Amino acid sequence: MGTMMIARTRDLLANSLVYATLDAGLSTLSSGESLPLDVIASRLRRHARITVLTGAGISAASGVPTFRGAEGLWKQFRAEELATPEAFARDPRLVWEWYDWRRRRIAACRPNGGHDVLAVWSRRFPSFTLITQNVDGLHERAGTRGVLRMHGSIWEVACWSGCAGSPARWTDEAVPLSEIPPHCIYCGGLIRPGVVWFGEALDPEIVAKCLEATRCDVFLTIGTSAVVYPAASLIEEARRRGAYTVEINLEPTPASAFVDVAVQGSAEQVLADIDRRLEQG
Ligand code: OAD
Repeated sequence: MGTMMIARTRDLLANSLVYATLDAGLSTLSSGESLPLDVIASRLRRHARITVLTGAGISAASGVPTFRGAEGLWKQFRAEELATPEAFARDPRLVWEWYDWRRRRIAACRPNGGHDVLAVWSRRFPSFTLITQNVDGLHERAGTRGVLRMHGSIWEVACWSGCAGSPARWTDEAVPLSEIPPHCIYCGGLIRPGVVWFGEALDPEIVAKCLEATRCDVFLTIGTSAVVYPAASLIEEARRRGAYTVEINLEPTPASAFVDVAVQGSAEQVLADIDRRLEQG
């Protein structure tokens, strides 16, 4: 995989973005079986401390492309040419063209029922944390409170050279961008997307908050392939700390083998089914 780091590390302290391949063990249940959903609803109903980790699968029904799988972005594009600091240094125009295309695509998407259920839960449950690897901003647009964005936001930018006059990052929602590559309004140099690229360190404050949120009663991992670290290690950490762990995904992932229950189904459908059970009390 070129410059992208491939690792089997599960060490949260090694908090730079890495990509891992693990063999998936299977212990999944179909969402057609109602018992696991009843059990999940009953766990949630106890007003427990709830933490949710989402990945690209939660936004799939909105029309945002995922990264892996047959139609995934990494089937069409090479991560090392578009999502690393080296790639940006080599060809900022190419990288920005790709991000401008993604921004235009995401701008045309709306939050789906899965985002909506999680937004409602963020207000309903007194202790609820949503951690996302997504940069699309759809959880925020659905009205979810206190989203922890591990990989930044596609709607933010930062000065590439980190000039003294600029904030660490700022919002820029221009679609399409008025120039490619765009320039820093403070120093005139290049700006970069406000996302975390492979090989870069994650914001240590966010990582600390995510780690803290693994100290919970119920931990749901939804629509993520669970192969990018440190996000994937949060599932293991929650399990280690005694949380009841639930996976919702269209297909098995490396996390399926060790979560308490792996529900195979679409996030929007399964979340609606669980929410209906919660509503029915
Ligand atoms: P992936 O594209 O790797 O995985 C998406 C997961 O969602 C897969 O496991 C699918 O089976 C599942 N899925 C797809 N549609 C679904 C649906 N409707 N309901 C439920 N599950 C569904 O995306 P992530 O795991 O989010 O990082 O990828 C993690 C990181 O890798 C991303 O943040 C991105 C990427 O490279 C960077 O770009 C830095």
